[in-house]
Amino acid sequence: MYLVLHGPNLNLLGKREPEVYGRLTLADINQQLEELAAELEVELIIEQLNGEGEIVERIHQALEEEADGILINPAAYTHYSIAIRDALAGVELPTVEVHLSNIHAREEFRQQSVTASVAAGQISGLGIDSYLLGLRALVNL
Ligand code: DQA
Repeated sequence: MYLVLHGPNLNLLGKREPEVYGRLTLADINQQLEELAAELEVELIIEQLNGEGEIVERIHQALEEEADGILINPAAYTHYSIAIRDALAGVELPTVEVHLSNIHAREEFRQQSVTASVAAGQISGLGIDSYLLGLRALVNL
């Protein structure tokens, strides 16, 4: 089982800044992830959480569940949550970080990720393909 974690505000996808994040809703993204998971013959648990503590606790739970890995878009927490970074480092599960937008081409405060250094890799800027490529990479790890 792989855990897919969407961070804060991603529940608003579709209506949230569509010029930056596109018009797909979170349900659209999740459906395509489920289709890819079926093709790859893996099981997903997909969750969207707005709170930093909730995300930390969900990452801990993934360890108890013996998840095979975590695909995470930490959203705004990417840029400053040492707590989420430490949770990912602590559980030592294979992790891939993804972003819809290219965080390296946006405001300076988005160009740093404190979480990417504890992930196997980061995919940023490819819209839904960031998630789909990220899942493929995670399963291959
Ligand atoms: C994001 C980029 C973050 O900077 C932003 O806070 C988000 C979404 C992305 O997927 O492009 O909420 O992680």
